[in-house]
Amino acid sequence: MSAYRFLLSAFTLLLPLASSPASAYDPSPLQDFCVAINEPGNGGIFPNPVFVNGKFCKDPKLAAANDFSFSGLNIPRSTANRVGSNVTLLNADQIPGLNTMGISMARIDYAPNGGLNPPHTHPRATEILLVLEGTLAVGFVTSNPDNRLITKVLYPGDVFVFPIGLIHFQVNIGQASAVAVAGLSSQNPGAITIANAVFGSNPPINPDVLAKAFQLDKNIVYYLQKQFGGSVGQGPWDDMP
Ligand SMILES: *[C@@H]1O[C@H](CO)[C@@H](O)[C@H](O)[C@H]1NC(C)=O
Repeated sequence: MSAYRFLLSAFTLLLPLASSPASAYDPSPLQDFCVAINEPGNGGIFPNPVFVNGKFCKDPKLAAANDFSFSGLNIPRSTANRVGSNVTLLNADQIPGLNTMGISMARIDYAPNGGLNPPHTHPRATEILLVLEGTLAVGFVTSNPDNRLITKVLYPGDVFVFPIGLIHFQVNIGQASAVAVAGLSSQNPGAITIANAVFGSNPPINPDVLAKAFQLDKNIVYYLQKQFGGSVGQGPWDDMP
C-alpha cells in the first residue's frame, strides 16, 4: 500500500472518532482481566481460549421472549449462612437478552436481627437499591484520603445508591426478614467481598503482609485466614523484611 493510500485510509478511519468523542473511549471491561495471546486456539490446551468482552450473539431471528425474561425472583432465598444474607444476581447468564445492555439486577434477602450483606465492592457497576420489606442500615465509604462513611436507615420504599467501586454494605436492623432489589449498571458487575478477598484469597496472602496492613497480631491473621480460607498463608517469602 502506498504511503498516500495508507494516510487516506487512516484518515477515513479516524474521522468518525474525531467527530464523535464518545466512540474514542475504550468500552468498559466486562471481565476482571484479559491476558493477551497472539492467536486463539492455543494447541487445544484450553478448550475455550477466547475471552470476549461480553458473549457471542445468537442469530437475532431466533431470539424469543424467554431470552429476555426470568421468573421466580419473588421466592424468598435461604439466609441460613454465616452472614445471614443471600444475593440472587440476574446477569447475562440468567437472562441472555441482558448481554451488551449494561445492566443487571439482584434480589437480596436478609435474616432478622442482623442479617448482613457484608462490606463489598462492585468493580464495574453503580448499584441502586430499593427496600421492599424490613429495615436496613446501609452505607458506603468514600475513597482515600477521606474514607467518609455515608450511611442511612432505610424502610420499605426507600432507595439508596452505592457509587461504582466503593465499599458498601447493608444490615437488617429489624426483627423481621428484610428484602431488597437492586439494579446494577453492568451486565457483569463483579463483586469483591472485602473479608473474603483479603483473608480468604487462594493462595493465601502472607500473614506478615496482613498483620502489618491491618495492624493486627499475627495470630489474629491466622485466625481470620482459617475463618475465610481454611488455609493459613505462607506466601513466597517467610518473613517480611
Ligand atoms: C441462597 O438461597 C438458595 C435458595 O434458597 C440456596 O440454595 C443457596 O444455598 C443460598 N445461598 C447461600 C449463600 O446461603
